[in-house]
Amino acid sequence: MAEKVAHAHAAKETEKGVQRCINRACRATFGLRERIYACPRCGETLEIDCRLVRPHDPSALRKYWAAKRTSKLPRDASGVWRYHDVLPFSETAPFVTLFEGNTPLFHAPLSAKYCGLSDLRLKHQGYNPTGSFKDTGMAAAMTQALISGARTAVCASTGNTAASLAAYASRAELQSAILLPRGQVSPAKLAQSLDYGALVLEIDGNFDACMRLVRELGDDPSIYVANSINPFRIEGQKTVAYELMEQCLWQAPDHVVVPGGNMGNSTALGKGFQELLDLGLIKRLPKLSVIQAEGAAPLAHLFASLDHDPSADEERIPEKLTPVENPQTLATAIKIGAPVSWKKALRAVLRSGGKIIAVSEQEIADAKATIGRDSIGCEPASATTVAGIKRLAAAGHIRHKEDVVAVLTGHALKDPDYMINYHRGTLSLDSGAKDRTAPPILGAFRNAPERVAATKAAILESLERRRSLSD
Ligand code: F0G
Repeated sequence: MAEKVAHAHAAKETEKGVQRCINRACRATFGLRERIYACPRCGETLEIDCRLVRPHDPSALRKYWAAKRTSKLPRDASGVWRYHDVLPFSETAPFVTLFEGNTPLFHAPLSAKYCGLSDLRLKHQGYNPTGSFKDTGMAAAMTQALISGARTAVCASTGNTAASLAAYASRAELQSAILLPRGQVSPAKLAQSLDYGALVLEIDGNFDACMRLVRELGDDPSIYVANSINPFRIEGQKTVAYELMEQCLWQAPDHVVVPGGNMGNSTALGKGFQELLDLGLIKRLPKLSVIQAEGAAPLAHLFASLDHDPSADEERIPEKLTPVENPQTLATAIKIGAPVSWKKALRAVLRSGGKIIAVSEQEIADAKATIGRDSIGCEPASATTVAGIKRLAAAGHIRHKEDVVAVLTGHALKDPDYMINYHRGTLSLDSGAKDRTAPPILGAFRNAPERVAATKAAILESLERRRSLSD
């Protein structure tokens, strides 16, 4: 019976778009109800081509979405489902929500100064229900899982996708199973997944090994893959581009900068901006730049080889990416050597005129502390953005007065150990290892706790010392 209901939905869904292979030589299309994660003909990744149900002119669409912000309907209260018109789901389809999206866009004066810019805004996706940007995509993916009659949703994860899948699968009353690289996930993220009720499977291997296993599991008819090779995830995540442009009063910033791991986020933002341009809602694409951690930067390496080629464009995207076999970074969220969505992300960056670069552990750590001083905070992976912007500004790719938005992907409390180690001066790439070879990461903005005698005089003395340091 559940199967029948699912197919009835699916038949209607096909009216709203198709799944299309991104390979220019193939471009095969498939119905939205087909549960596939790669092109069955050529093996390349898929994207969804979604048609607007009702054509609107740009100003009508802007007003329509603005009105939804004051609507009392649960669907409109979600920052994903408010943009239902540009999503591949029919009016009557069910929708899964934890009221994701609607995240703040902060001005960050200290971070701007740190980067050598007059202003910098931070779009904080860590304000989502499970504390990361994954929730917008998971709302769409779990909705599609329900529609397709799946029983169990599965993902490989460095922690955030896991927490998000666990929460949204439970909300959709689906079973969830999560493959994590054992010992390489922040305890806070692991705790969330356990609490939301997922089956947590710790694998002896890294994220890329988990991802390979998930691809194999995807053949099983009971399994629904929730990683970003699933194009419905990307559809949910692209809504951040719509929300951001609404917050920017439909004036595209000069630059939007995101961290890069498995490359789903950059793919989704790139797709969202392209759609906004095609719909006439913005006049130009923001330059989309992606920042990786030096020890896990396969796409930055590839980009560096293309960047020296003045004719580098989409046509020249190579067939293969050389993976980083043993990725290393303390920004564990992006400790990924073989990103699955690299081709789509690279295409979006090249189209927009952005860059893909890598930053060091020290740069990430100091950028993170600066974002903290702006009273905003984020997890280490998110701080690659500010570190990258500083580099891109120093290299002249970003100019002092340009309008720049960095997307922070995860909440500061996702990785408290990292913060404590930074401030105590004990952060190191090989903390815990017997033979220490990596140099410690010394916090330029270190703020270690002080042990103080339990007297008023001692406390006032400490305060005075701090005052004299900041004068
Ligand atoms: N920032 C955070 C906080 C993340 O958790 C991730 C990815 C990224 C950035 C990179 O985004 O993969 O779309 O390029 N986390 C995944 C996970 C891999 O399993 O939680 P991406």
